[in-house]
Amino acid sequence: MKKRDFLKSTAAITMGAFLPSPLWALSKNDRLRTAHIGVSNMGGEDLKSISSHKMVDVVALCDVDSKALEEASKAHPGAKLYKDYRILFKEMKDEIDAVIVSTPDHTHAPASMLAMENNKPVYCQKPLTHHVAEARAMRKMAEKKKLVTQMGIQVHSFYDYKLATLLIQSGIIGKVKTVRAWSPKNWGYDGPVPEGTDPVPDNLDWNLWLGTAAERPYKKGMYHPGNWRKIMDYGCGTLGDMGVHIFDTPYNALKLDVPKTIKNSCRPTNGFGFPEKNEVTYEFPGTAYTADTLTWIWSDGPGAPKKHEDLVLPGNDALPDQGAMFIGEKGRLLLPHFMQLPRHIVNGAYQELDLSIIKDQDQIGEPTKSYSIEGNKHYHQFVDACLGKAECSAPFSYAARLTETILLGVIAGRFPNKTLHWDSKKAKFSEPEANAYLDSPYRKF
Ligand SMILES: NC(=O)c1ccc[n+]([C@@H]2O[C@H](COP(=O)([O-])OP(=O)(O)OC[C@H]3O[C@@H](n4cnc5c(N)ncnc54)[C@H](O)[C@@H]3O)[C@@H](O)[C@H]2O)c1
Repeated sequence: MKKRDFLKSTAAITMGAFLPSPLWALSKNDRLRTAHIGVSNMGGEDLKSISSHKMVDVVALCDVDSKALEEASKAHPGAKLYKDYRILFKEMKDEIDAVIVSTPDHTHAPASMLAMENNKPVYCQKPLTHHVAEARAMRKMAEKKKLVTQMGIQVHSFYDYKLATLLIQSGIIGKVKTVRAWSPKNWGYDGPVPEGTDPVPDNLDWNLWLGTAAERPYKKGMYHPGNWRKIMDYGCGTLGDMGVHIFDTPYNALKLDVPKTIKNSCRPTNGFGFPEKNEVTYEFPGTAYTADTLTWIWSDGPGAPKKHEDLVLPGNDALPDQGAMFIGEKGRLLLPHFMQLPRHIVNGAYQELDLSIIKDQDQIGEPTKSYSIEGNKHYHQFVDACLGKAECSAPFSYAARLTETILLGVIAGRFPNKTLHWDSKKAKFSEPEANAYLDSPYRKF
């Protein structure tokens, strides 16, 4: 099924009384009524953080796993419960003001697009989408409808990351030539497609879990929960999982757009699971904050990153487990992931962070006190933006480009060691074989 047809058919269910106004309407008492799609694990965290805002009323919870739904409903006994988000919109479109999408990646776009079709602001988990074409469609829809949107990269609103952005933009290390980023996590899978099927547990609606993805037999522990990240039909591997967070600050600070070339050195895949130990090299056109070309290198998997002179720390200190290193004309800036201050390094020695170089001192904000305070900021910003009192810092206009960049590296994993050339205007690779992975048909479910 084509995406346009999916939207037409689902919108036809939900849009009996389509509002001509592109703007969504607030509930009468100016509180925000939220609907949450995917409510366990990260969805549970999202639910907690959004509902910790005093102006939020959680009115609907949706999950294809009835155990997850039951657990989430304990703290929100008044919320209506659904297992199918299409029915949720059909029945409650006039009683919800904003939607939070926290499902596996392949359902981000189908659920978010339907929410936006219904004129609802959306907080969607990262990466924004599973396919490049979906990221572009999400951006277009949000812009057309002028909706408040935010991607769930909560560290974007953390003090340390904002500080690193301000320091880079204030020229602390001069123009940046290279960024190296790494994570030891491994969401790769080298096994065969499992054979046979296991009984689907009573609490799970497997057809709804698959959603728009192709039909596949259920296998216990293989996909739901969490392990879908390793499988190409549902997740985006380690780069899609961690790269979105760790690359966000360099991407934002250096004002990057999408890359010109992408190469992933990894083992070949069998088209089912993602490769592990990805070493992805991107080349970006230069910006005001970079050299003529910016090289960005991502490494993942156990032992990542490989030793490199760019990554040697003063006193041979150990690198943080995950993080990013900016390499500039006048030194380096290390940004550990997460909740640690950036470190400024010049000629092999740490420097005191000189915050006086930051031009707009008002933007610095308060240093991190605790994760529980810091962790809610990004969510509350979304709620406040829906209430007309703030602006989102990771709207889909930004998130779609960051996600596109990440997904291009994920696609490059299907063509180990081959340099792919990206034409952003045409939204196509010069290598036709790679274009097949920019989109995928939607199943009617
Ligand atoms: N921002 C972060 O720090 C962060 C951290 C972890 C995960 N995530 C993101 O959150 C999302 C969820 O990850 P997770 O680890 O919680 O996955 P998970 O598999 O553990 O949980 C997903 C939940 O969504 C439900 N679900 C699946 N399909 C659904 C559908 N069609 N409708 C309604 N509910 C559905 C599942 O039953 C489950 O309860 C992913 O996009 C992931 O990348 C973000």
